[in-house]
Amino acid sequence: MSYEPKSVADAAALLRAGKLCAFPTETVYGLGADATDADAVLSIYETKGRPRFNPLIIHCADLDMASMLADFSPLAARLTSFWPGSLTLVLPAKSGNGLADVATAGLDTVAIRIPDHPIALALIAAVGRPLAAPSANPSGRLSPTTAEQVRRGFAGKVPVLDGGPCRAGVESTIVRVEGERLVQLRAGAVAREEIERRLGVTVEVAEKDAAVAAPGMLASHYAPNAQMRLNAVPRDGEAYLAFGAAPQFGGLMRNLSPSGDLHEAARNLFSMLHELDAARVGVIAVAPIPETGLGEAINDRLQRAAAPRG
Ligand code: TXA
Ligand code: MG
Repeated sequence: MSYEPKSVADAAALLRAGKLCAFPTETVYGLGADATDADAVLSIYETKGRPRFNPLIIHCADLDMASMLADFSPLAARLTSFWPGSLTLVLPAKSGNGLADVATAGLDTVAIRIPDHPIALALIAAVGRPLAAPSANPSGRLSPTTAEQVRRGFAGKVPVLDGGPCRAGVESTIVRVEGERLVQLRAGAVAREEIERRLGVTVEVAEKDAAVAAPGMLASHYAPNAQMRLNAVPRDGEAYLAFGAAPQFGGLMRNLSPSGDLHEAARNLFSMLHELDAARVGVIAVAPIPETGLGEAINDRLQRAAAPRG
């Protein structure tokens, strides 16, 4: 049985120390981590057994915190009238916002919300940093609406700050703001009609194929300019993304983890891809990555980055 936080202060101490802690929101329980701490965020993927780096919703305590992370267009600013509340906004990320790359899966957008729950708000404020939090269930299972469901789902291995049952019981509505266009990526606790009515705007619905469950498929997803060759040995003129003991290579190279540690590799993945791509090479050769543990997520992400572009 894991240590049970008895208060917001207990839970904040865990999160500040880079640990996970589940906490209540008005929608469902979230599995929280300090969104600026790459290792902590990676533990979310490991703990949930999430097979790929799906970007996470970043939970903020107030508008000041949110405005450090993303650019709010005038339309986005009007949508914040739903905060605190069950509306998640996908906005252009501010560069240098301090969020771990793995929290946003390397995208140049960020999904943000201010939850409408006194415990969640007090917790984020006590941590003093935004919290990344997917629903607190093992991947593929139902979202939990009580602390007991969270404990059962993770066999007692995840600390849970108990705040009683969640009010909404369904996840937040996710809307992407693209200039003057609003696109609903996931239906949720705030009805689309309610957004349209209150703001006098139209909210489009994303095509089924653009399902938010697979944002890696979205055209907006980060894909390097370079071609990618996977499971490869580098050739002259290519850049090389190595893993573990690497062959001699005279060209531009980064090593995801010289010691072959998948957690370290996952932590480095997006930033190293960005670095190699910034050098404007034609091809990035990538070493084989084992398909175990976080390797599954790393390989999924690499395959998406390597997929033919439409
Ligand atoms: O109610 C909720 O939203 C709960 C509570 C804990 O806040 N959280 C939640 O998180 O449902 P999660 O991880 O289960 O769902 C987040 C969804 C994912 O499907 C992800 O693809 C999408 O948000 N998402 C996150 N960032 C995105 C982005 N930049 N662009 C598009 N989709 C994004
Ligand atoms: Mg979920």
